[in-house]
Amino acid sequence: MTTTRAASPDTFAWPRLLDGFHQCHATIGIVGLGYVGLPLAVAFARKGFAVIGFDVNEQKITELHAGRSYILDVPTDEIASLRDSSRWRMTSQPAALREADSIIICVPTPCQRGKEPDLSYIEQAGRMIAGVLRPGQLIVLESTTYPGTTEELLLPILETSGLQCGRDFHLAFSPERIDPGNPTYHVENTPKVVGGLGADAGDLACAMYSAVIERVVRVDSPREAEMAKLIENTFRHINIALANELALIARKMGVNIWQAIEAATSKPYGFMPFYPGPGVGGHCIPIDPHYLSWKAREMGAETSFIELAERINHSMPDYVVRLVIDAVNQAGKSIRDAKILLIGLAYKRDIDDHRHRPLLPG
Ligand SMILES: NC(=O)c1ccc[n+]([C@@H]2O[C@H](COP(=O)([O-])OP(=O)(O)OC[C@H]3O[C@@H](n4cnc5c(N)ncnc54)[C@H](O)[C@@H]3O)[C@@H](O)[C@H]2O)c1
Repeated sequence: MTTTRAASPDTFAWPRLLDGFHQCHATIGIVGLGYVGLPLAVAFARKGFAVIGFDVNEQKITELHAGRSYILDVPTDEIASLRDSSRWRMTSQPAALREADSIIICVPTPCQRGKEPDLSYIEQAGRMIAGVLRPGQLIVLESTTYPGTTEELLLPILETSGLQCGRDFHLAFSPERIDPGNPTYHVENTPKVVGGLGADAGDLACAMYSAVIERVVRVDSPREAEMAKLIENTFRHINIALANELALIARKMGVNIWQAIEAATSKPYGFMPFYPGPGVGGHCIPIDPHYLSWKAREMGAETSFIELAERINHSMPDYVVRLVIDAVNQAGKSIRDAKILLIGLAYKRDIDDHRHRPLLPG
């Protein structure tokens, strides 16, 4: 990887691309039109960028062609009005991405059964992009992953195109922070962390995101940006586990944990409330810390906090079931004949994303 702009045979592309981002007239390609990719595509389109959305799921492309949204936070009206714009193109044909000035990857990063990172979606997307990559393009990975993925995994795949990172194309990482169902924070007003492989990639990625996002926080390289996201979600994972453990202790001590947490929250500094619950859900908190611990293990480092938090959070569904059985027994009924109403099966309020919900298997 070289960052020497003067050595590039394609020197004209860099200032033109930068200008395209500043002026909002570049073409943005988005790979993966899910909870992350679709709102991002809409945010760029709102600012006047031309957007090429690509997804391997034909059903999603059909829905978008029909002018319908399948994401709660993206209004169908907006998709319907974008559908008729010549600057909005949704496709399952990779070749269309050749026209993009920048390609942002928003594909899933789940865990395999043994809790190991499943990077197959990034690999597939990387191979597909390598097949259409052209000089001058900026590639940004947004999928949550462990430090080193952009440089160690994605870069070599992209370079199978015969193009060289830093000379022919630019590569950066910028973690997605979208919070589905959040009425206050959305794409445009959630600060975005950006780390480029080399100064040019960093400049380009910052210029692109600054056009749509109020605050861009630049770090030295993709590794810090990859780590930042895992710090955020590991912090939540561990603090939720602490709240869960405190709830168990409080119950034994006859303490109202909710009131105690609210009381602690009155401290104006040095405390941030987390609340107990029936486990952790969604595709971030139960998964992302495993990306960090897997990578740490590979490097011979321990992640004791993460493992302890995992054990506590994982035990919560059983604990809640035991509480329900006790309550039913106390009411003089057998759990076998009881009808239990479960309310709020998604991992948090006001969302339609049921993945990794703690109360149901699968
Ligand atoms: N959903 C969130 O709230 C959220 C928040 C922050 C970060 N993230 C991270 O962002 C990433 C994407 O998450 P998501 O929730 O949007 O996932 P998602 O499952 O909603 O969407 C991913 C999309 O990628 C498509 N896809 C899969 N392989 C592809 C390929 N090779 N080429 C093109 N498209 C492909 C899928 O069809 C799907 O439409 C993950 O790494 C996730 O951890 C998600």
